[in-house]
Amino acid sequence: MTEPAFDSARFRQVLGHFPTGVSVVAGYDADGAPVGLAIGSFFSISLDPPLVGFCAGKQSSTWPKLREAGRFCVNVLGEDQEAVSRVFASKDPDKFASVPWDRSPLGQPRIAGALAWIDCTLDVVHPAGDHDIAVAAVHELAVTAEHGPLVFFRGGYANLS
Ligand SMILES: Cc1cc2nc3c(=O)[nH]c(=O)nc-3n(C[C@H](O)[C@H](O)[C@H](O)COP(=O)(O)O)c2cc1C
Repeated sequence: MTEPAFDSARFRQVLGHFPTGVSVVAGYDADGAPVGLAIGSFFSISLDPPLVGFCAGKQSSTWPKLREAGRFCVNVLGEDQEAVSRVFASKDPDKFASVPWDRSPLGQPRIAGALAWIDCTLDVVHPAGDHDIAVAAVHELAVTAEHGPLVFFRGGYANLS
């Protein structure tokens, strides 16, 4: 591939003008401890069959654990959950210590106060540069709160109101 005519700062700056929601993708490691990471790249893919996806960085320490487990719950964060996003974007070894949660029908970590949860099993992983594109089958899902979403835009948190 030819060298791009821009640097990584320009790439981040321009792509940061595309607003995203924020979710926490959460599952268990091989020892049964809950693990998760903040994800802005979550997307809906297919209705029949129901598929969703997200892009996971190859530098993430959590993604290989979720990949091995093969199942996880996507928690869509609400506008009052910036602190939750900060925890799950960190390298804290016990991100669940400060966040109330229970188990989804698939048995995966479900974060209290999230707008919605989506129980998934991993279907296929496509390598894509320094990320992997994870495609997952949806098993069950529900809306649990009706207020606004947490939004990430131009490198900072925002909401729709
Ligand atoms: C708003 C926001 C969105 C993020 N979106 C992604 C994403 O889509 N994919 C990803 O791999 N990391 C994303 N991150 C970064 C990860 O949350 C972070 O690198 C990761 O949790 C580091 O911890 P880990 O080593 O436990 O995975 C995002 C961070 C923030 C704050």
